Parts: sequence; C-alpha cells; structure tokens
Amino acid sequence: QWTQKADSVLALMTLEEKIGQLNLPAAGDFTTGQAASSNIAEKIKAGKVGGLFNIKTVEKIRDVQQVAVEESRLGIPLLFAMDVIHGYETVFPIPLGLSCSWDLDLIEKSARVAAREASADGIHWTFSPMTDISRDPRWGRVSEGSGEDPYLGAQIAKAMVRGYQGEDLSQPNTILACVKHFALYGAPEAGRDYNTVDMSRQRMYNEYFPPYKAAVEAGVETVMTAFNEVEGIPASGNKWLFTEVLRNQWGFDGFVVTDYTAINEMIAHGMGDLQTVSALALNAGIHMDMVGEGFLTTLQKSLEEGIITEKQIDDACRLILKAKIKLGLFDDPYRYCDLERSKKEVFSNENRQIAREIAAQTFVLLKNQDQILPLKKEGTIALIGPMADNKQNMPGTWSVAARFDESISLKEGIEKAIGDKARIVTAKGANFVENPELESRISVFGKPTYRDDRSEEALIQEALEVASGADVIVAAMGESAEMSGESSSRSNIELPETQRNLLKALVKTGKPVVMVLFTGRPLAINWEKENIPSILNVWFAGSEGGDAISDVLFGDVNPSGKLTSTFPQNTGQIPIYYNHKNTGRPLPEGEWFQKFRSNFLDVSNKPLYPFGYGLSYTTFEYGDINLSSNNLERDQKLTASISLANTGDYDGAEVVQLYIRDLVGTMTRPVKELKGFQKVFLKAGETKTIEFEISPEDLKFYNHNLDYVWEPGEFEIMIGGNSSEVSTGKVNWTK
Ligand code: IFM
Repeated sequence: QWTQKADSVLALMTLEEKIGQLNLPAAGDFTTGQAASSNIAEKIKAGKVGGLFNIKTVEKIRDVQQVAVEESRLGIPLLFAMDVIHGYETVFPIPLGLSCSWDLDLIEKSARVAAREASADGIHWTFSPMTDISRDPRWGRVSEGSGEDPYLGAQIAKAMVRGYQGEDLSQPNTILACVKHFALYGAPEAGRDYNTVDMSRQRMYNEYFPPYKAAVEAGVETVMTAFNEVEGIPASGNKWLFTEVLRNQWGFDGFVVTDYTAINEMIAHGMGDLQTVSALALNAGIHMDMVGEGFLTTLQKSLEEGIITEKQIDDACRLILKAKIKLGLFDDPYRYCDLERSKKEVFSNENRQIAREIAAQTFVLLKNQDQILPLKKEGTIALIGPMADNKQNMPGTWSVAARFDESISLKEGIEKAIGDKARIVTAKGANFVENPELESRISVFGKPTYRDDRSEEALIQEALEVASGADVIVAAMGESAEMSGESSSRSNIELPETQRNLLKALVKTGKPVVMVLFTGRPLAINWEKENIPSILNVWFAGSEGGDAISDVLFGDVNPSGKLTSTFPQNTGQIPIYYNHKNTGRPLPEGEWFQKFRSNFLDVSNKPLYPFGYGLSYTTFEYGDINLSSNNLERDQKLTASISLANTGDYDGAEVVQLYIRDLVGTMTRPVKELKGFQKVFLKAGETKTIEFEISPEDLKFYNHNLDYVWEPGEFEIMIGGNSSEVSTGKVNWTK
C-alpha cells in the first residue's frame, strides 16, 4: 500500500525534489553547540529538504511544516527529528544506567514515555537507541549505550525499539526509532572518540553486531551510520556494511541516515572530494545526508557523469516517503502538532513519577560496609560535593530537551525525604576538576558547572566546618554530566584528584561516609573502594534524580541494579570485560601473577567490580546449580536451576544470571557468555527456585566461515549473582 502511494508521489517529483528529500539539515534551534544549517526556509520552499532536526515545540514545528506543505511545489511534509536519547523533557537515567536495571519492561516503558512526550511536542523521529557495544570506558559515549554485553544489549535494543515505535506507527503517540551508530562506533582505538576501529569479522558478528541486528529484527525504521571506519572504509561509505550486511543479510527495509556531516568527513578520512564521497555514500546504501549537503550539491553531477543512477535516488527517496506515509503525515502533516496534548503530556506529573521509579531501579550499590545504608531519617546529614546541590548536571549527557532548572537536585530530594525529622547541611567542598580550562570543556550546553573560584584548601576547609556537627556525611561527587558523552574521552578514568582530596579529608573526620557516585562511565575507584564504607553508584539519574536517589538512600527502595560494564582497577587494564578469551597462557584460578602467563606485573587480572555485580540492602544466598541432564542430544532441552534465598532483613530484587562456556570449538570461545537472566523479587526470608531452559539455539555462534552454528561437545553452565561468582555444572551435548 505504501509503495503505491510513494510511487504516485515519486512520479510527480523532479530530480531536484527527489534529491531534496535526502537532505536533513539542523535547525540549531537550541544550544547543542552545533550550528544551524543555512537558508533552511528557502530550501524548504524549493523542495530541497526532507526533514529537520534540533527544533522544538509544537508552535515552531507547525510553522515550519506549514512552509513545506503550503509553500513548496508538491507540499511534501517534513520529518521532524531530535536526539530523544533517555527521555524528552522528563529525563530518565542515561542509557548505561537504564541498562543496569536489567528490567526490559521498565526500559521499554521509559522509551514509550519518551515517545509520547516527544510526539506530543511535534517530533516524529528519534536518533535512538544507541546500541554500540563498548569495552572501553575511556570512550565517553559508553554512557549512551547498554554496556559491554551483546546478549543484554540485544534485548535492550529490542525493548527500546518497541517502546518508541509501539505496535502501530500510524498512532500519533509513536515515533520512528533509529538504531545507531552502524557500525562498531564503540570500539575506537584508545577509547578516543571518532578514532580508527579495526577488528575481525568473527568479532563483529559475535560480539558487536547482535544489538544492531536485534533492533532490525524488532522492526526499527531507520539506521544511522557511524563516524569511524570499518575494515579501512569509513562506515558512511561502506557498501559491505549497508548493502551486504544490513539489507541483504538482515533484511532491513527502512532508510539509512548519516551521522552529522559524516559524508563530508570522508574527505578528511582520505576518500576523495565531496562529489566522490557523496556518491560513495549513495552507492553504499545510504539514503539521507545529515547536515553536510553533499547529496544536495553533488548527486545531480554524479548522475550526469554516470557514477550513480537515477534508480538509486528514486529508491532512497521512496524509503523516506515511506516513513512519512507510515507516520500518516500525508494524511495530516500536523497530526503531531497538538498544543493541548503537548501541554497535558509533556513533563507531566505522571511521567515524572515514572521516571523517579525507574531511576531508583538503576542504581548499583557497590559497597555497604557495616550497613551504613539505608540512612535513618534522624540527626544531621552533611551533604558535601559538587553534585550536592546541582540541578544542571542531574539529567546527564544528551538531554537536549531537558528542563534543567526544574530537575530535582540531591539536596532537594533529601530535604523532601527527611521533612522535619532530620537536618541537612551542605557544602560544595570541591569543583569537579581543579583545572579551569578542563572545566570549561565540560560545561552543559555552554552553561558553567557552577565553578567556585576559591582554592581547593578553602573549599575543603568549609566542607569540614559544615560537616563537623553531622552524624553522617553523604559525599555527592564523581563526573559532571559532560565528562562523559560525545567527544568526552578520558585517558585517566579515576576520580579527579581534587575530589579525592576532599574525600580523604572527609574520611579523616572519622564520621561514616557514604559516597553517592555520579558517573557516565565505569571509574577506576580503587582508593574509594578501600577507604569509603558505602558507595552507591547513581550514574546520571535524570530529571527526578534527587528524589530517586533519596528513595534509595533512606531505604524506601532497596537497590537492585547490577553493572553492565566492568569497572577496572586502573586505566591500564582497559579493555577489560568478562567475556574474554582464555588465551594459551591463562593465569590459574586464584593466582595473582605467574611468569610467562597472560598478566601484568603491577596489577592483577581481576576487575575492580565485575560485570553483573551489585549489592542489595538484603543478602541473597545461592544454592548449587542443578542440571536436568548431563548428556543431551541435538534437539533436547536442558533445564538449569538454582535455589535463591533472601537471607537478610529487607524484601528485595536480585538479577539471576545464566552464563555458558563452550569448552572446545573450531574457534576459540569466550570463558563465559551471558545467555539469560531473570530479575526476581523475594520477600525477606523467602526462597525460590529459579529455572532456565537452554536449547542448542543458545549455543550458536558465528564460526570462521561466518556460519551461525552450534558445535557438539562439552559446555559449562553457570548461574550466579554476577559474572565472577557462579555455581557451575557441565553437560555433554551431541548432535
Ligand atoms: O544523533 C547524534 C549522533 O549520535 C552524534 N552526532 C550528532 C547526531 C545528531 O545530533
């Protein structure tokens, strides 16, 4: 049906108008730091624009749509896009935080709410989910993904696509999703953003592709290219990636948009002039050019010279028209411009309450010595640190639509939680970083991070005075929002020294210290792990962060988040990830170092905190794994079970994780791979048996020929509460 409609529109279009549909300028309406494209209104009238992004509010979008519909020759409506990454005005935790909930329903719900809000405000299309696997926390964009694991990443990718696109795209409360950044953007050398990527196809297919593929299987309508190269060809011009893998192998039938000026950047990559790289992109299977205007200015010439065909332009244009048809924009171009709906649904109390509840599920309790947490609502609480009273940094990176001034700071959250039962005193204690030049690089959309120009000593002194009468110190510190995210790679992922100096002074007081750690990436917090009794990692928790954190600090919610990205002991251990290979010289279990083994002289191979790790206010005890059989044949299924007991004093949820190791293969296999998980709620004192069903499908991998197969033999089956502490059984599976 849509093909007929698209073809009937296409038949009316001039070549120029078709190429115009492939052009996606940026409005630069809000301060993303990115400049607006030029003469947008003129181009829209001339039919030279297919969509627009970085524009907000029903009124503005309606005005621009009107220009397209009433003043361009064919009146083709525009697509309006935005980076709705973890919420719209109601901001949810950053994606890395969301993944730590291991709760697919909640993650889907966050995307659903984001879609409802964004669509109520005129937006048709989000550039999310970002599903780049990354094992390198130096890379700032780990904050925008779901961590290091392909299986979990794939489940989350599907949940996000379902949340944004819903069941029926013609409903005006759904939006187009865009899986990005295809491909491999999370593996730049040294974790330096936009840097070179190089890896084997076996690694791509087994470890990096699964989440993108899962999004395609879930019906994602659009895909965004990556800035990096893949096998020596920039992704945005890589035909193997976009035509062979995405379209032919995976059956993707939507359209592909470039990342911001990614076609033009192929000139710097060394692929030729603008005409050459634009033709390269179109020939590779790219349909829409974000901001760079290479398509707009060169495709006609390339067509005349026979470098591209008119059919390629038609095909690209048809796919963009298809998206507009599916959204119902040809029936009513203003169907997303409903002011009443916008007033009612955007940043509503209901959505904010959902964001608060979801945020509390994403925090990871890293340490809780002597059960300092949960705090009692009594006495005096000293809240110290650069995140103590800070609204601006609460939503986290890529919160382009956030109402920063209305986000809930930790101070506000605690004040509301304690009412008049306890007292709170606060001090900043430290800037995020000591170096003012570095601090200026991490401002939120050009706004300062509330730098205090007093000396480090003066700030610490003030904090100590404020804390002197307190019963407990809550140290709110870590990264500022823009210390992670795009173009925020770090070569040292420890806590900045100035904050560590503050922590040292606070610990010296002898008072109990709880660190509430804000971060967009795993941090190497060795000293903190040794010296701070309680650490609650809250990532960036979104607009309702202060309330959600208080819910957990005071025990109204029991933390249940588990890490989805390994915390290293130091930056030199990176990349460190749980599903590594064994090597020919593995270090024997329990050893720290052996000569001529695969290890370091100066640090053990252990992570600081492993993948899957996270504590609770209660305690969980696992029994031994139980397997329904130790010998299986081809189509048989295995049931692996384990008993789980809540042995503590609080009701709580635990993420039970299933890992498998393929002991012998025609290719080397990881020491363990996540193959299933269940988030289970247990009342204090309750015991449950948790079961996983495993079939040969779960044993499959891409072999050396890139065939997706399972190989008979011995497998270890492991269940546990994190990737390092598991109970193991063995099976022999024959064909
Ligand atoms: O969607 C983003 C992408 O992730 C990074 N470059 C800019 C795009 C549009 O804002």
